[in-house]
Amino acid sequence: MAQIFDRSSNALARMSLVLTGLIVIALGVTLDQLQRSPWVTRQGQRAEQPVPFSHRHHVEGLGLQCQYCHTTVEKSSYAGIPPTRTCMNCHAQIWTNAQLLEPVRHSWATGESIPWIKVHDLPDFVYFSHEIHVNKGIGCASCHGRVDEMPLMYAQNTLQMEWCLNCHRNPAKNLRPTSQIYNMAWEGPTTDHPVWCAAADGKAGVPTAQSVNCTTRNPGGADAEMASLELPATGAKGLAGDVAAAVPEVAPVYRKFTSQEDLGKFLVVHYKIRPPKDLSSCEVCHR
Ligand code: HEC
Ligand code: HEC
Ligand code: HEC
Ligand code: HEC
Ligand code: HEC
Repeated sequence: MAQIFDRSSNALARMSLVLTGLIVIALGVTLDQLQRSPWVTRQGQRAEQPVPFSHRHHVEGLGLQCQYCHTTVEKSSYAGIPPTRTCMNCHAQIWTNAQLLEPVRHSWATGESIPWIKVHDLPDFVYFSHEIHVNKGIGCASCHGRVDEMPLMYAQNTLQMEWCLNCHRNPAKNLRPTSQIYNMAWEGPTTDHPVWCAAADGKAGVPTAQSVNCTTRNPGGADAEMASLELPATGAKGLAGDVAAAVPEVAPVYRKFTSQEDLGKFLVVHYKIRPPKDLSSCEVCHR
């Protein structure tokens, strides 16, 4: 009997154990990769929308501001998707017979909303809010990419925990003046394109981010006049307007920045950004 389980079959059994172990590990790694793959996160995928709405045409082509359609992005957790009425502001007159716009006309006639497919969708156990990000100097493009160049919407980033944490551990490299939130092409200050900022901290009733005043024209130079005129114009409405309203009576002291590193450090202090340890603690996003 002992012959049945001889040395060689023992070795075989041991080998198959090792093999099984390897297969389990490989499976685990594959599943993990899969969970992070664009196939699962839908990163980069164009959804089959009821209407092939083009941000490139409407934003870059027609010059529409994000807030024209995403009206609540500065003041609520949701940016919001525009109602059909917003489209009809123009499409009651333009492209009225286009087949592509049939679902828009149908929605307008029946009062049923257009069934847009969500491109970005966090699980319910994650807390996220646009309001704080936008008002603390994170631009739309830092999270959504060059929306103004997208013929069809897709997710530029995974929206996975690591991605959020990556910025929460070092927000400085993504902070910008609040007047540049909607500027899709913003790349931070350089020696050729410096930025000047002045902080009016401690002014009662003024939110911290809004009390920082930045400009891309030398405020002390020949075009100082231009600098003060420029601010309200850059953002059209909303944030930039608030910045202009927050300018203190005393002439502000401007500092010149030629690198994102220096500007980021300055803004972390004056926007009163929490230290990385606090910003990465579990309760921030899982409450
Ligand atoms: C003319 C109206 C309009 C303007 C202007 C506009 N959007 Fe949109 N946006 C839409 C519509 C409609 C959708 C839903 C359809 C889609 O996903 O393409 C959408 C979807 C989005 C989404 C994805 C939503 C999701 O499902 O996750 C993002 C992100 C977005 N817009 C960002 C922007 C940014 C940034 C700007 C400014 C640069 C902007 N939009 C300007 C109408 C607009
Ligand atoms: C400010 C005016 C304006 C608003 C608001 C507007 N559109 Fe348009 N839309 C246009 C114009 C102008 C064109 C033609 C663009 C071109 O071909 O250069 C167009 C073209 C389109 C097209 C044809 C494909 C393309 O992009 O060229 C679709 C589809 C469309 N719009 C959908 C929508 C939807 C959906 C909304 C609402 C979320 C909307 N539009 C809001 C002005 C507008
Ligand atoms: C810090 C990253 C970040 C910034 C900055 C940001 N977004 Fe988003 N956005 C997200 C995430 C994450 C979601 C998905 C939210 C969810 O599923 O609850 C989202 C969803 C959206 C949606 C879909 C509707 C909604 O509210 O869920 C739109 C539209 C949108 N963003 C537009 C904008 C615009 C316009 C700006 C700039 C003013 C902007 N976002 C800035 C991360 C960001
Ligand atoms: C590009 C940088 C960046 C990215 C990406 C980012 N955040 Fe943030 N987040 C910030 C900054 C800056 C603040 C403001 C911190 C402060 O004021 O102390 C913030 C604050 C928050 C807060 C605090 C809100 C409050 O009221 O206390 C939450 C929650 C949050 N982020 C969730 C997320 C989630 C979830 C994601 C990923 C889906 C994400 N963030 C991605 C930069 C980012
Ligand atoms: C900046 C925001 C943020 C912080 C801080 C954060 N998480 Fe998350 N967490 C997320 C997001 C976003 C997801 C959803 C990821 C996805 O959809 O794949 C997530 C998912 C998870 C999941 C589900 C499994 C997974 O990986 O998808 C667990 C468990 C989790 N978080 C635990 C934690 C713990 C524990 C901490 C503290 C050490 C923490 N999180 C801190 C944003 C955050």
